[in-house]
Amino acid sequence: METRILPTDLPPLLHHAVDEAVRLLRGGDVVALPTETVYGLAADALNASAVAKIFEVKERPTFDPLIVHLPHKKDIAMVAEVPPEIAAVVQKLTDRFWPGPLTLLLPKKPEVPDLVTAGLPTVAVRVSSNNVFKRVAQGLGRPLAAPSANRFGSISPTSAPAVQAELDGKIELILDGGASLHGLESTIIKVEPGEKKPLITIVRPGPITPDDLKPFGKVQRVDRTLIDEASEAPGQLASHYAPSTPLRLLEKPSDFTPEPGKKYALLSYRGDPEDGYADLTDWEQILILSPGKGKLPEAGVRFFYVLRELDNAGVDEIIAEPLHEHGVGIAMMDKLRRASVKGGHSARLPEVRKKAVLDAKYFDFHGDIQNQELNLPQWRQAGTSYFVTFRLADSIPQEKLEQWSRDRQQFITENPEPWTTELRAEFHKQFSDRFQNWLDAGEGACLLKDEAIAVIVADALKHFAGDRYELGAWVVMPNHVHVLVKPNGGHTLDKILHAWKSYTTHAINKALGREGDVWQNEGYDHIVRGPKAAQAIAKYITDNPAQANFETPYVESRV
Ligand code: TXA
Ligand code: MG
Repeated sequence: METRILPTDLPPLLHHAVDEAVRLLRGGDVVALPTETVYGLAADALNASAVAKIFEVKERPTFDPLIVHLPHKKDIAMVAEVPPEIAAVVQKLTDRFWPGPLTLLLPKKPEVPDLVTAGLPTVAVRVSSNNVFKRVAQGLGRPLAAPSANRFGSISPTSAPAVQAELDGKIELILDGGASLHGLESTIIKVEPGEKKPLITIVRPGPITPDDLKPFGKVQRVDRTLIDEASEAPGQLASHYAPSTPLRLLEKPSDFTPEPGKKYALLSYRGDPEDGYADLTDWEQILILSPGKGKLPEAGVRFFYVLRELDNAGVDEIIAEPLHEHGVGIAMMDKLRRASVKGGHSARLPEVRKKAVLDAKYFDFHGDIQNQELNLPQWRQAGTSYFVTFRLADSIPQEKLEQWSRDRQQFITENPEPWTTELRAEFHKQFSDRFQNWLDAGEGACLLKDEAIAVIVADALKHFAGDRYELGAWVVMPNHVHVLVKPNGGHTLDKILHAWKSYTTHAINKALGREGDVWQNEGYDHIVRGPKAAQAIAKYITDNPAQANFETPYVESRV
C-alpha cells in the first residue's frame, strides 16, 4: 500500500484532503489526522471493524482503550451518558476546555463497540480544536476513535513526516496539518461528585494543568503505583511512550558518571551551561527542549520530536536533565520517568516492575475464558503474544471447577468494582492462585509425568516454531502445559491450539493404547500486554517446575 500525504494549507487543498479522508473513513478505513495535541490514527468509532484496523496498524494490544473525538461539543450523547450528579461540572469543563486537549472519562453508551473501550464501562471523550480534524469529523458526522498515530510502544508523532516514519505503507492517507500545537497528548480526567466540590482525578497529565482545573473542583492525581491497568489507564504501561534507546533521567548533574567507551546524548532542558550538564562528558549530541529560555510550553511542543531525534542518534544511552515539574512539565517528567524504566536507573523502577510482575502473575482465569466468548476475532490479530494454558481432562474435577466458579461469582457480586489494590490482590489470591495451586498439586493421573508422553507434547510445541508461530517460553508440567506464543502472519491462535491438541491427543492415545479426550476442552488464553508482561510470564513459566517441586527437562525460555 502506498501512503499518500495530502497538504491542507490552501483552501482547495484542504477541501480535497477532507473529502478524501471522509471517503476513506466512511468506507471503514483508518486515516492519520492532525490534532492540536499529537497526530491521531482515526477510524469511525461506531464501526468496530474500522476500529480493529487501528489496532492492526498500531500493533497495539487490544486491551488499550481509545479516545473518542466528537464532531461537536453537543454530540456527547452519541457515545456517553453523563450522570446527573456530575452534569453541571461536566458542562462547565466542556464549556471552558472544548474543543481542546481535555479528555473526559464518562460512562459509555452501548452503541460504542467494546473494542473502543477495551471492555471498560467508560469511554474517553474529547473534541479536537484542530481545524483539519474538526472538518473531517464534521464531514463524517460521526465520532472518531483516534489514538496517537504511532506503532505501539513508540513515540507519539507531532508532524506528518513523523507519522510517515511510523506507519508508511500501512495506511492509505495522512493529512498534513503542520506541526502539532501542543506536542503532548491530552489531559485525561475522571470526574466524580465530591463532598463540597466535585472531585477531578487526573488520570494522565497533559496540556491542561492541575491549576487550569482547580476552579472546577478538588483536583487530585492518580498514584501511578495504584493504577490498575485493567480499569484505569492501561495505556500507561511503563513502556508505552519510551524511546528504544535506554534513557536515564537525572536528578542532578553529579548523578552522572560516564562509562568509558559508551556514547551518550543529552536531552537538555534549556541548554544553559550553568545548569551543569553540558560538560559532564563529550556528548555525541545535545538537543535542547527549550533553547535558551526554559519555557515549558515550548519544551512541550518539541518534546516528542527531540526524543525521537535522540533515539535515532545512534548512542548507547540518552541522559535527560530534569524539567521544572509544574504545568506541562508534569506531563513531560511523567513520560521521562516512564522512559527511564528501560534504562534501569529510575528511582521508580522497583514499583513499576513489581506492578508488571503482579499483573502477569495474577491471571484471571475465568475472566479470560469469558473474553473468548465475546466474539472479538480481532483479539486474535497477528503480532500479539498469548499466554496459553491447557490441562489434562482429569486435572481438575468438574465439581471443584463449578464450586470455584460459583465462589468467584459470589465474590464479584459482593464486592462491586472499583476495587482497592488490596481487594484485587485478595481476589487473585482466592481465585487465580487457588487455580494454579490445584494444577501444581498434581491432581489426576498426571500422564505428562511420563517422559515418553511429555516428549510428544514438547515435540508438538516445537514442530512449527519459527514458522507458524514463535515460541517465547513453554513448560510441560505433570497435568498441564503453559506456553507463551506469538502467531506469525496468517496463523491464528485458535488453529495453532487446535493443531497442538489434536495431534497430541492422537499420539498420546496411540502410545498408551487408549481412546478418548486427553485435554480438558476449555482452554485458557491471556493476551500479553507488552514486553514486561512477556518477561514476567516467561519467568512464571520457567519457575513453575521448582514452584511445584517437579523436575523436568521440558521447559525452555527465549524471552
Ligand atoms: O491527545 C490525545 O489524547 C491523542 C490525540 C490523537 O487525540 N490521543 C491519544 O490517544 O493520546 P492514545 O490512545 O494514545 O491514549 C489514550 C489513553 C490511553 O492511555 C488509554 O489507556 C486511556 O487514554 N483511555 C482511553 N479510554 C480509557 C478509559 N475508558 N478509561 C481509562 N483510560 C482510558
Ligand atoms: Mg499512544
